[in-house]
Amino acid sequence: MGKFTVLNHPLIQHKLTIIRDKSTGTKVFREVANEIAELMVYEITRDLPLQDVEIETPMGKTVQKQLAGKKLAVVPILRAGLGMVDGVLELIPAAKVGHIGMYRDEKTLEPHEYFVKMPPDIDQRILFIVDPMLATGGSANMAIDALKKRGAKSMRLVVLVAAPEGVEAVQKAHPDVDIYAAALDDRLTETGYITPGLGDAGDRLFGTK
Ligand code: URA
Repeated sequence: MGKFTVLNHPLIQHKLTIIRDKSTGTKVFREVANEIAELMVYEITRDLPLQDVEIETPMGKTVQKQLAGKKLAVVPILRAGLGMVDGVLELIPAAKVGHIGMYRDEKTLEPHEYFVKMPPDIDQRILFIVDPMLATGGSANMAIDALKKRGAKSMRLVVLVAAPEGVEAVQKAHPDVDIYAAALDDRLTETGYITPGLGDAGDRLFGTK
């Protein structure tokens, strides 16, 4: 089964409270969501391979560590996933960005894929799939399926708020995908919202309704 990790660092928890608050407006919501994503990068890249490199400091030659050049990509699930991309790129600016468009039928809550554009070599990359809310797990599972179909072999799912139902659904369908969340909330409502959650992440990010 894939690992499920809640990143309960105080800075992450503090910032999450800000975006949960319904009085937080679009500008601050957008900034803080990206800040949380940026802080999460520290953990989701913790096991990236390093290699030795010889450099010369002003004091002389030394062998030190550098990233072994494992290729990375960030894959936002449209549209709410866009709200985490800039934060991730702050720390890994050379990462490629693939996009996957999913929408949720508001009646059936079923996800549908409408757009996929990936870097050509996704089979050689670690993909960080980003989406603020892991609710039923339907969109995440469909996104992971779509990426596997196109050759992806290494994926991590990075969300701000997860519902237990979504975590279970992804772990069951894709035991090879680790999940990272800033919080694990109580449950889903009948209308598919995470509670206490933060409402509709896309609407809050983009000021729509
Ligand atoms: N998507 C959202 O934006 N919010 C939820 O609570 C669940 C799914």
